[in-house]
Amino acid sequence: MDNRPIGFFDSGLGGLTSIAPLRRALPEERIIYYGDTARTPYGSKSPNTIKTFSRQISDFLIQQNVKMIVIACNTVSATCLNDLRKRHPDVPILGIIDPAAETVAKTCTKDNHIGIIGTKVTIKSHTYEDSIQELNPDLNIHTTPCPALVPLIEEGILQHEIMDLTIQYYMDHFISYHQIDTLVLGCTHYPLIRKNIEKLYSNLRIINPSEEIVSQIKKVLKEKELFAQNSDAENTFFASDLSENFVNMINRIFENSEFKVAFKNFDLDTSEKKLEEK
Ligand code: DGL
Repeated sequence: MDNRPIGFFDSGLGGLTSIAPLRRALPEERIIYYGDTARTPYGSKSPNTIKTFSRQISDFLIQQNVKMIVIACNTVSATCLNDLRKRHPDVPILGIIDPAAETVAKTCTKDNHIGIIGTKVTIKSHTYEDSIQELNPDLNIHTTPCPALVPLIEEGILQHEIMDLTIQYYMDHFISYHQIDTLVLGCTHYPLIRKNIEKLYSNLRIINPSEEIVSQIKKVLKEKELFAQNSDAENTFFASDLSENFVNMINRIFENSEFKVAFKNFDLDTSEKKLEEK
C-alpha cells in the first residue's frame, strides 16, 4: 500500500480528461495535477522547449513526493517520455500514447481506415504510427494536425459554432478522403469536444487515450504494490496561471462528487528565477 499521490501533468486543461475515468476506476487514489496554463499550447513549440518545460514539471512533481507520474499529454509523451524516464529512474512514468496504440493494434484490422488527430508536434513525431505498427504492421493509418483546437478549448469555447466550423475545417476532407471509420483523439484536450465530433461525424468509432491510460495505471500500481487507501484525501490542482476557466472546468467535472479539490497557483518559471536570484 502507498498513500502518496499520483502526479499528472499537461500543458493546460487537457490532462483533466484522464482524471474522471481514473477516479471511477480507482477512487482511493489521491491526485496532484499540474497544468502549465501560462505556457500552453505546447503542440506548436519546438521539441527542445517542450523538453525544458516537461523537465521542470516532472522535477516539481517529484518534489511533491508522487509515487507515479502520468504524462497526460500526447505532445510531451511523443517527445519526452524517454528523457523523463532517464531523469527520474526510480518513479514509474507512463506516457499516454502506448495504451491507446495497443487498443488500436488489438481491435482494428487492415479493413479499417484509422485516423489520428493531434497537435503538430505529435503528428510530426509519427509516434502513434510507430507504436501501432510495431504491434500490428498491416493497419492503414492516416494522421492530421489540428493546431487551432487547443487554444479554443483553453478559452472554454466548446459548444459553439466556431468550434464546429474549426473541427470541420480540419476534418471534413480528412474523414471523407480517407474514409476514416476509427478516430483516435491524439490530444488530451480533444475528449472535451468529443460530443461536437460525434455530432458532425456520427458513424465514427472513437478511441480516447485519456480513458485507455487508466488500465495501464492500474496495472503498474498493482505490479509495484502501490495501491492507496485514501478515499477522503484532498486532491491538488496546480496551474502556472490559475485561470477562471481552469478552476471552473475542474469544478464542473467533479460537481456532485465526493472528490475534494484544492487549487494552487505555481509558476515554475518565476519560482526558478526567484531561486536563481537568491
Ligand atoms: N493536451 C496536449 C496533448 O495531448 C497538449 C496540447 C497543446 O498544448 O498543444 O497533446
